[in-house]
Amino acid sequence: MCGIVGYTGPQSAATPLIEGLRRLEYRGYDSAGIALGTSNKLFVEKRAGKLANLEGALSQVPEVHSGIGHTRWATHGGPTDRNAHPHLDNEGKLAVIHNGIIENYSELKAELQSAGHTFHSETDTETVAHLLSDLRKEHNGDLTIAMREAVKRLRGSFTLLAVHADRPELIVGVRRNSPLVVGLGNGENFMASDVAAFIEYTKRAVELGQDEVVTITPTAVSITDLAGKAISPREYQITWDAAAAQKGGFAHFMLKEIFEQPKAVADTLIGRFVNNQIAIDELKLSEAELKNLKKIVVIACGTAFHAGLVAKYAIEKWSKIPVEVELASEFRYRDPLVDSNTLVIAISQSGETMDTLMALRHAKEFGAKVLAVCNTNSSTIPRESDAVLYTHAGPEIAVASTKALLTQIVATYLIGLYLGQVRGVIKSADVSEIYNQMLELPAQLEQILETVEPLRELTRKFADKNTVLFLGRHVGFPIALEGALKLKELAYIHAEGFAGGELKHGPIALIEEGTPVIAIVPNTHEHGLDEKMLSNIQEVKARGAKVIAIATEGIEIPGATHIIRIPNSPQLLQPVLAAVPLQVFAYEMAVARGTDVDQPRNLAKSVTVE
Ligand code: F6R
Repeated sequence: MCGIVGYTGPQSAATPLIEGLRRLEYRGYDSAGIALGTSNKLFVEKRAGKLANLEGALSQVPEVHSGIGHTRWATHGGPTDRNAHPHLDNEGKLAVIHNGIIENYSELKAELQSAGHTFHSETDTETVAHLLSDLRKEHNGDLTIAMREAVKRLRGSFTLLAVHADRPELIVGVRRNSPLVVGLGNGENFMASDVAAFIEYTKRAVELGQDEVVTITPTAVSITDLAGKAISPREYQITWDAAAAQKGGFAHFMLKEIFEQPKAVADTLIGRFVNNQIAIDELKLSEAELKNLKKIVVIACGTAFHAGLVAKYAIEKWSKIPVEVELASEFRYRDPLVDSNTLVIAISQSGETMDTLMALRHAKEFGAKVLAVCNTNSSTIPRESDAVLYTHAGPEIAVASTKALLTQIVATYLIGLYLGQVRGVIKSADVSEIYNQMLELPAQLEQILETVEPLRELTRKFADKNTVLFLGRHVGFPIALEGALKLKELAYIHAEGFAGGELKHGPIALIEEGTPVIAIVPNTHEHGLDEKMLSNIQEVKARGAKVIAIATEGIEIPGATHIIRIPNSPQLLQPVLAAVPLQVFAYEMAVARGTDVDQPRNLAKSVTVE
């Protein structure tokens, strides 16, 4: 977490730095700061709180042409002015910003203190500023060599950028397990945690590998490994433009992203049915390998985990391969029973989530093949996977995930159909029918969004509630979990999702007069699922609950206080539709309660720490 940006070129550096930080604020917003490279000394300003606090303090910014900027999600040391980045050496000439955690900072700090360094913050980052300062002196003022040597002494995960007042036009960066991309401009260069930071200025980007050290000046970019060996940059074009990262007239990014879902789903599905077959050319496994698969394990966190839970129902049905879905943060600390006949699917919007990354590395150690389902081009998770299927949600800026979920569900469905087809366990007519039904989803999503106003109005009536429960069965169960997660993170309301069948095993004790219960009603009679949910509704109503049912047209729901109708589609596709009213409910609750919709407290978009 934390957003990092560096700039060197002809512009007044404060402008691209602040612009970049605004685009990266989704990564952390506890405090922000910049260091500008005036000759012989640095101009440094940093403030606790949101970027606006820093901007308010920047009335007199020197007109200089390079610098670094940081927006923080606190790990070591609270969110105070003192702990905000950049951190300086004792001469005030070298500044460092950091994303990640330096695990061995205490021992390094003790060593540096006994060598005479004075510390001013409680952060792990400040250690690097002092260490770099000493190493730079040892290496005749060469900041690049100093960075290489410093990194050899660091444990943990980090992206670091450093600038020194003696050569302010030169910025040095490095990454280990945290993101860093270089933007190649015309007579100017950038570094940032995410291309969003510099998309306004250039579409040419360079990805960095593990432990690669990069030095930029306005006209040059050089990359080396820790031994100093030159590495040729791997350049790529950024495919989305700056407008995609703006609110476009919506009150919040989250609302905009909810409304972008029809397009996101359509873009993810497009071109995936060729010559009467699902086409996933990216899946680089041979037909023999696919036929020999004994098990699929999905690893993910948060909303992406919920997408995995939904995927299990479809992949097992279509491919006849058993699917386990596990929180990445649990999987990585187990001795999992996976081997070369296991396909691990790592789902991640950002492609940088540390727990998912570590879980995929863990799976690879056991010989499993890893397929990433990811929304962020060239991020770490796809780079370290054997293959990647990109979702095409476009940039997701709001911290709460919406369009990523829907695209993750349809992408994993494509994988399920593909595996079923290769293994010959699903009829091609069925594949074609299901794909065509999926193609109807964007129009059905449009239909939900066109009629969303009454739901927004209804939601406001519940704004004073402190507990909301969500019930679902079958594929509706993960969606109930997702509805609860959205409400917790956005409106800070206690919310729980339950499988309908579990109600009587404990959760029903939570129901009291007026408790809102949102029930996702299955639109299938198979296994009596619809009737079972209708019974659950009666059970909670009898104990005083106010039930909001999410159901397709034509299903009678005695006992529901309110019914939100969604279009009819096959049961396995219902989660894509049913998720939307729950997103809108959480969004509207947050607005009504006055919380920060796009940047909820204590959270950050991309969780790059353990
Ligand atoms: C919730 C949310 C998080 C993410 C989770 C995984 O709204 O956004 O739960 O889903 O942190 O993030 P990615 O998908 O980037 O790995």
